[in-house]
Amino acid sequence: MTEIIQDPLSLTIDDDASVVVLTGAGISAESGLSTFRDSDGLWEKHRVEDVATPEGFRHDPELVWRFYSSRRKNARTCQPNDGHKALVDLERRLKSKNGSFLLVTQNIDGLHQRAGSENVIPIHGGLMETRCSNIRCEDSRTAVYDDKVYDDELPKCEKCSHLLRPNVVWFGEMLDVAQQREAIWAVRKCDWFLAIGTSGTVYPVAGYVQDARAAGARTVLANLKAADNLHAFHSFIPGRATDVLPKLVATTG
Ligand code: APR
Ligand code: ZN
Repeated sequence: MTEIIQDPLSLTIDDDASVVVLTGAGISAESGLSTFRDSDGLWEKHRVEDVATPEGFRHDPELVWRFYSSRRKNARTCQPNDGHKALVDLERRLKSKNGSFLLVTQNIDGLHQRAGSENVIPIHGGLMETRCSNIRCEDSRTAVYDDKVYDDELPKCEKCSHLLRPNVVWFGEMLDVAQQREAIWAVRKCDWFLAIGTSGTVYPVAGYVQDARAAGARTVLANLKAADNLHAFHSFIPGRATDVLPKLVATTG
């Protein structure tokens, strides 16, 4: 049975603990970025098949680039919020003692990195990165920083002239193997597994809580509302990330 915790200050994370944090779109909501599955979310305005699959890109690359270009425009104007900043404080505090910290984010907006988080695995890729779409081209294996907006002229690879694509993981694509291995290894040996701002709907990431719990970690969901995988967590702290996280981090010591 998942216990509901109304006061984040009632949890104490020891400063020598090993902590893995998983975040989703909800932590960036108060920075002004849309989530995916809330009302007025991105998947209400766009069909996933059209804008977030390899097939959609093959069928209409202009539409896909318009979708990601508009998200680049939005992300550039947004700032990290107190939820992002609280995780930077947590990481610094743990690292200053004998603790350890890993942030696995499903978000591609780059706000954690801009806030100052260092040990980050961007497991669904990066919005401000582009790579070649031709898997036989060596430039398809390395992404370059690119925050440009492509509303008409689509970017082409200089090596093979194929279209460039956003360096994000689309539905039906595999996650980076090395990133997955690093994330699972940390999840299976942490003391605390905190999931924040995620609906717990997309696997394999939504399954990390089970791995953490099976390995003996204390598992906590901090989310505006119950997630699909709520049953797998020991505790659930309902609320907004900018309200809950600063209090949760304040108890580290
Ligand atoms: N504070 C905390 N949680 C919030 C806030 C907030 N201010 N606002 C919204 N939430 C919660 C919502 O209640 C919801 O459960 O954040 C969650 C966001 O869920 P989704 O929109 O499904 O986003 P996410 O879980 O990140 O989606 C996972 O799905 O579409 C793919 O690749 C995409 O990485 C994404 C993945
Ligand atoms: Zn190429």
